[in-house]
Amino acid sequence: MKVLVVGSGGREHAICYKLSQSSRVSKIYCAPGNAGIGQTAECVSIGAMEFEKLADFAEENEIDLTVVGMDDPLVGGIVDVFEERGLRVFGPRKNAAIIEGSKAFSKELMKKYGIPTAAYETFDNADKACEYLKTASFPIVLKADGLALGKGVLICNDLEEALAGVKTIMLDKQFGSAGDKLVIEEFMTGREVSVLCFCDGKTIKPMTSAQDHKRALDGDKGLNTGGMGTFSPSPFYTDETADFCMKNIFEKSIAAMAAEGREFKGVMFLGLMLTEKGPKVLEYNARFGDPEAQVVLVRMKNDIVDVFEACIDGKLDETELEFEDNAAVCVCIASGGYPVSYKKGFEIKGLDNFKGKDGYYVFHAGTALKDGKIVTNGGRVLGVTAKGATLKEARANAYEAVKLVEFEGMYYRHDIGKAIDEA
Ligand code: AMP
Ligand code: GLY
Repeated sequence: MKVLVVGSGGREHAICYKLSQSSRVSKIYCAPGNAGIGQTAECVSIGAMEFEKLADFAEENEIDLTVVGMDDPLVGGIVDVFEERGLRVFGPRKNAAIIEGSKAFSKELMKKYGIPTAAYETFDNADKACEYLKTASFPIVLKADGLALGKGVLICNDLEEALAGVKTIMLDKQFGSAGDKLVIEEFMTGREVSVLCFCDGKTIKPMTSAQDHKRALDGDKGLNTGGMGTFSPSPFYTDETADFCMKNIFEKSIAAMAAEGREFKGVMFLGLMLTEKGPKVLEYNARFGDPEAQVVLVRMKNDIVDVFEACIDGKLDETELEFEDNAAVCVCIASGGYPVSYKKGFEIKGLDNFKGKDGYYVFHAGTALKDGKIVTNGGRVLGVTAKGATLKEARANAYEAVKLVEFEGMYYRHDIGKAIDEA
């Protein structure tokens, strides 16, 4: 069958890789893709938000299945456009992707259905938000309501910082219209874990767990990013915790969406905080995580096409998800200056070193082809991923592999998976 993947990051590269392992797939296209994806799939220069053009392409090329990786097109309603045109597509419709598109929506949903999360208030008026903060305890968390590339969350240690945060989000509109509404949330402490779950509208099945590292610099310092590296599985996500989450979070979430008339099909990604009082939801996403997909998909044993189809056809209850009994670590290599400003166009050297190396993967995020050479073309550039029998082995392998590539200004965190030592 012919498959089209929509997106251009490391996550989409991992999805294309996993599709390439399927005996059912004869051809993979990716729109718009990147230089690395171009080695596995045929890149198509249509933007991820050009829904009608993408649907035209799918029709003209007799695409059997389209998989949407990115949040913006999902929240914008790409799945509705494809379905209206009778095209098979994997991902939630617009009315379900809102679980990621609006934090005010997802907080309200959790409150209504008793899904554990941090206490919160929502504001659409900056003065009222500031009044509320004057009586609040600190630290406290401010979240822009809408999509903000994972950067619309501010953790404020005192009133002064919080008032400045309200100004940044609601008045200066640093995250655009995402800041029309503001969620102010209780600060939680604990270990974070990402659990990506396949959903078919009624059934939800969690994949193996992962942990992201959101801050730019070692020791969780610096600004929030889209994610600087991951490991899978999380040793802190025990079987007991998984059972609790299944009953009290995952099943409740899919049932809540169905009860609201917002049947969720696709990947529901739960960002969880394992607090002293039990696991609580930090956020929902309506897609695979990036770079969580990189470490989860390389460990997945199933043919992913079977799972995508089971989700679309409402037959996920008949599917058993299987993961290898090993571990994986992904270290993201970023352009100097990311996540603020950075230059593009530097040649990436050493990529050939990975040819034929089993258990090692270089997933491209911001890369492009220029004069026959692969150059940097974004903030996060590569996700160097390695497997190992244990987390420690996978981490050692990933950091050995990072040394094989080089480009001007590159930086990465040296402590991805440091938490493993405390497990
Ligand atoms: P989010 O996009 O909502 O996942 O937030 C980004 C990051 O901010 C999370 O991964 C956490 O590290 C942090 N964060 C978000 N909400 C809270 C909270 N209520 N308490 C503590 N940290 C938080
Ligand atoms: N790595 C976090 C995300 O994909 O949102």
